[in-house]
Parts: sequence; C-alpha cells; structure tokens
Amino acid sequence: MPVDLLDEAHRALETTLPARGDDYRLGYHLSPPAGWMNDPNGVVYFRGEYHVFYQHHPYSPQWGPMYWGHARSADLVHWEHLPIALAPGDAFDRDGCFSGSAVVDGDTLYLIYTGHRWLGEPGNDEEGMQQVQCLASSTDGITFTKHGAVIEAAPHPDIMHFRDPKVWRRGDHWWMALGARQGDDPLLLLYRSRDLRQWECLGRALEGRRQPDGYMWECPDLFELEGRDVLLFSPQGLEPEGYERWNLFQNSYLLGRLDESAHFVAETELRELDHGHDFYAAQTLLAPDGRRLLWAWMDMWQSPMPSQAHHWCGALTLPRELSRDGARLRMRPARELTALRQSRQVLAIGTLEAQSRRLEVRGALLELELELELTGSTAERFGLALRCSDDGRERTLLYFDAMARRLVLDRQHSGAGVSGVRSVPVAPGQTRIALRIFLDRSSIEVFVDDGAYTLSSRIYPRPDSLGVSAFAVNGRGTFGEGAAWNL
Ligand code: FRU
Repeated sequence: MPVDLLDEAHRALETTLPARGDDYRLGYHLSPPAGWMNDPNGVVYFRGEYHVFYQHHPYSPQWGPMYWGHARSADLVHWEHLPIALAPGDAFDRDGCFSGSAVVDGDTLYLIYTGHRWLGEPGNDEEGMQQVQCLASSTDGITFTKHGAVIEAAPHPDIMHFRDPKVWRRGDHWWMALGARQGDDPLLLLYRSRDLRQWECLGRALEGRRQPDGYMWECPDLFELEGRDVLLFSPQGLEPEGYERWNLFQNSYLLGRLDESAHFVAETELRELDHGHDFYAAQTLLAPDGRRLLWAWMDMWQSPMPSQAHHWCGALTLPRELSRDGARLRMRPARELTALRQSRQVLAIGTLEAQSRRLEVRGALLELELELELTGSTAERFGLALRCSDDGRERTLLYFDAMARRLVLDRQHSGAGVSGVRSVPVAPGQTRIALRIFLDRSSIEVFVDDGAYTLSSRIYPRPDSLGVSAFAVNGRGTFGEGAAWNL
C-alpha cells in the first residue's frame, strides 16, 4: 500500500477549506468533501452499517488518478465521511483504483476493484492501457490492505478495456461479472472463485455488437430480484432513439436468467433505468431485511459541473429501493428518507384555469408529494415550476404535456450551465400522475407513479431561487391534494 499517497490525499482533504459562497453544496445527498466524485463503488452492509465507496480524485474537481472515497451510515440518512479507502500507486494499480464492488466474508470486508495503468501518456487511449482485477481487505471497515492483482490479464489479448468487477455470492462460489470491450464490441465476462483469490474464467455471459449494442458495457451489476435475474449496466455508444437515450451514456437493464452454462439469457428488451439527465453507473446491495438498495452517480460524463468553481463536484442519488413489476424495474426512495421531513405543509392547489399561482411553500431542500389529475383537465400543459426566482428568470418545470401525453422535466432555465428536457410516457387511459419530488440545492429527483419511472437531474439555480408555482397553460389543470416538507 503506498502509504505516502494515501496520507497525502488525507492531508489534501483536511486542508481544503470549504469554498465561500458554495450555493450548490448538497444538503442530504452524498458528495465528496472536496475534489471529484464519479461512480458509486462497493456498496455494502458491514457490521450494522451501510458503506458506500466512490470514485474519487481528492486533489482537484477534475477526473484524475482514481482513489476510493468512503462514507458510512447506520440509517441511510446521516452519512459520515471516512478516510479515503484506496489510493493508487502500486505496480498493479499505478494510475488508478477504478470501479468495483465489496463483499463481506466472515469478519472481513473485501474490496474488488480494477487496477488501471496507462501504457503511454496518461489519458491517451491510442497508446493503450492495462486493466487487472485487484483485491483489498479490512477488518475494521476503515483501513484497507491491498493484496494485489487476482486476475492479471483479460481472457483474450484483444481485450483492453476490462473492468468494474461486481462480485456476489451464489451457492458455494463467489461470482464476478466484468464489463469488457473487444475491438469495438462490448462483452460481459463471468468468473467464479471459492476464495476471492483464485478466479476461473467462465467466459462470455453476454456478447454485443457495436451496432446496436454500443462499444463498452461499464459497471455491470447482476442479481436476482423477485425470481428473475437482473443485469444492470452502463452501455457506452448507443444512439438516441425517439425519446430515449439522450444522455451521452445511459444506465440500462435487462431481465432474464443466468443459465447453467453461465450465459445471461435476456428475456426483455434493453430499458433505461432512470430518465433524467444525470444517472450513471448504478450499483446495488442486498440489505439485511431483503431489500435491494441502489445508488447511482447523479451526473454524466462531460456534463457542466459548475460546483467545480467551489472545488468539488459529483454526487450520488438518494438510496432507492429496487423492485420488479413484471418486465420492468421500479425505484422508490428508501423508506428511511421520511426521517428527513420537517413540518408538513398541505398543498391544496385545486384547479387552475390558464394561470400560474405561487404557492406558499419555498425552499432549496424540499420534498413534495402530489397528483396531477388528468380526468377533466383540458390544459395543453400543467404542473409545477420549482426553484423559481422572483425575477422570473429561473425555474425548473415538471409538467404533463397533453399533446405528447408525457410528463416532462424541463431544465432549460434551471441555472448555471444546464439545459434540455427529458420526459416519460403517460399511458393511454391513465387518469392521474402521482409525483414524489426531492429537491436539494443542486438536484431534482422525481419519482413518478410510485417509482414506475424516475427522472434524476442536476440543476444549478441561484440560492435565492426558492419559489414553487403551479401552472396550467391554455385550459384547466387540476391538482389533487398533496403535501410538502422542508428537508
Ligand atoms: C464509469 C467508469 C468506469 C471506470 C470508472 C473510472 O463511469 O468509466 O468504467 O472504472 O468510471 O473512474
């Protein structure tokens, strides 16, 4: 373990002063104390607490040699930042401790991650890279000892991208799923082990083609959910299609089964897991009560990240409970999150006739719960304007578009740097849309119809853009009674 690098990183974080005027600092989401964050890694329950690690660059708010940041929580609501768990710099992970996962075996917490090395100039894909799978362990859940590479080479010389091991226990083996790329085609590889150290390659659980499957499948997760196997992954290189896939990369899933010959047999089409602008690299854990909990990176590669001016960027979504509804997944906010609620305010908006009405509720940290009544509503669009500024220049809109029959999240006036709309379908015959909305200083997460759809996006409004309005355009819009809480 290169103790010097780890110590240096700890010192760098301690001496980074909180930047003044940081209007984007999240109130109840996990984000790094300073520096850069991307994927959630190694989400795991260990000795009565939830641990979340994440891809982290402590020295700047830009991606760089990757460390594993670390936080833990007993209740999924209050998080304690812990010392950085992994620092790069050994021969096998010289240029980065890339994404991976965590498992508990007896009293020991194991991290399995990708050791990354550039073969030429850092960042130069042309000159290539070497990726191996590494093991580290801890008995106190805080300090980790590296054990080096346990899979030292990809199973084929043409595979250069070979990363993001997800390990789980099934029967009397540990299993590992890995994302890979051979030439321009994506692959899901499967391995098996009895001791986490010696791994047997079982081959290609799933193979794709550049067209139409993309060129790389990052951050796989593979688990059983209510009788079906779920393959969750983050494909790169898909083209937008209709209303889908407008983010640079997406987080998608297939339902099916992992058969006896270690092939994943898909039984559904590929679906996006979340429909907002910022959702990637989701990872799950199995909680002791049987719930499948999920976190994703609530950002996207190459998106504007104005909090970088305040020396930090990146956040994780709220923890979500994943369940299956036939061929689709459903995500609800973890039930523990109701503990964030302060006093309840009733939202009694009623019917608006081609008008906009400012509501009494205000805030940057808010939860709102309400229904849009479609029966009897004649408006072309109706819904809510959130994080509104008093001068009318800023607002984040969430509304039913009757012509398109879609629920739209519009962040074209949501503050610094961001733009664009995302939307989800509203079924023919559906009579109401149930919304549960979480606002934090620089984020919005919308849970639609009890989590049948979710939209997660970063927004960067001014700190005084705190208003909430309801509106109906060209016609009547009816709102069911709802509630709001400051968080
Ligand atoms: C996904 C990803 C992973 C990789 C990590 C590097 O966002 O590209 O494939 O391990 O980020 O930070």
